[in-house]
Amino acid sequence: MVRVHHRAPFLLVGYNLPTMPAVGITPEWIAELRRQLLRWFELHKRPTPWRDNPDPYRVWVSEIMLQQTQTATVIPYFERFIARFPDVHALGAAPLEEVLRYWEGLGYYARARNLHRAAQLIVQNGGHLPTTAEQLRELPGIGAYTAGAIASIAFGQPVPVVDGNVTRVLARLLWLKGDLKRHAAQKQLWQLAEQLVDPDHPGAFNQALMELGSTVCTPTQPRCPECPVTHLCEAYRRGQPTAVPEPSRRIPTRTVVDVSAIVEREGRVLLAQRPPEGLWGGLWEFPRTTRSARESLETLAIRAAEQLGIQVEPRQLLLQLRHVVTYSKIHLYGYLCAWHSGEAQCGPYRAVAWLTPEELQHYPLPAPQRKLAEALQNQTVQGTLF
Ligand code: ADE
Repeated sequence: MVRVHHRAPFLLVGYNLPTMPAVGITPEWIAELRRQLLRWFELHKRPTPWRDNPDPYRVWVSEIMLQQTQTATVIPYFERFIARFPDVHALGAAPLEEVLRYWEGLGYYARARNLHRAAQLIVQNGGHLPTTAEQLRELPGIGAYTAGAIASIAFGQPVPVVDGNVTRVLARLLWLKGDLKRHAAQKQLWQLAEQLVDPDHPGAFNQALMELGSTVCTPTQPRCPECPVTHLCEAYRRGQPTAVPEPSRRIPTRTVVDVSAIVEREGRVLLAQRPPEGLWGGLWEFPRTTRSARESLETLAIRAAEQLGIQVEPRQLLLQLRHVVTYSKIHLYGYLCAWHSGEAQCGPYRAVAWLTPEELQHYPLPAPQRKLAEALQNQTVQGTLF
């Protein structure tokens, strides 16, 4: 149990600040936390290919994939990616399109573009990853969290990592109140984590904290009976393990209606490549538009195609999908259209291509667009396009 130390021998950062611990932390408390977390991690860590062989390149790729994606989802992607791009040289030399294709389905494609760009920079600088968190942060796609993870796991640097899981574990251990997403609170959490990280086993310690957060100290139904540090946990002592962290101010989600025109002309369909920046940058899609007023799906399909300078006849709805992107719920409709007139130009896109349904598999598409492509292929196989 965390005791209140009026003469805390090892005072951490500003107790007077709202998010800071309501309880004192002693060297003994820290030693016990490290001991128990390391022991637990050794016994319970999930076997993953990057843990089996933690060379820096593999750790880097895994940490980029893990940024917005769960471990179980990442494993098969990681294996395919590493089989095709086994080292930084292979990655740097590969065409971006192919890297994106291997990323397809993981989402947040800026991660893949940055990874590719960073690989090229590393190759230009001798082929070795930088070894400190500070230098790692200079690479595209590597923020404080990923830099800390790579530096500690791959290079044994005694630096902290704070992500959503670590935030939750620390909030519960130390009863940290307030909105922990705020900048000031995050800054304090980093200082706290810096004091806690085990200088002898920083990689294992950081992974243990993250792993505990994702498998045991979960947001709504923590498995406290399985936790190795309940005796150090203030939220547990209070019998309120889910009372912290407190919910942060929610950004309301909005609903968006998108229509992609799947335009057929002489057995080929029209695909367009998005500009390099932004969401899904550099990926391909069926020309798409977003509804702004009360418009029918047919009207939207016509407009989606018109952006590229072609006129179409909407024929039938192929598929309707729902997906969520950041703060938007998207209803995506794939509308089959017959080409009528006009030669395709780029419009807002970077490139356009008329492809046979089989060729679609060689182009990187966002996951929902891939579903449209698959539905299209199924229809073509059945010979029932229109
Ligand atoms: N989340 C992100 N990186 C992680 C890691 N190395 N171990 C466990 N969870 C993680």
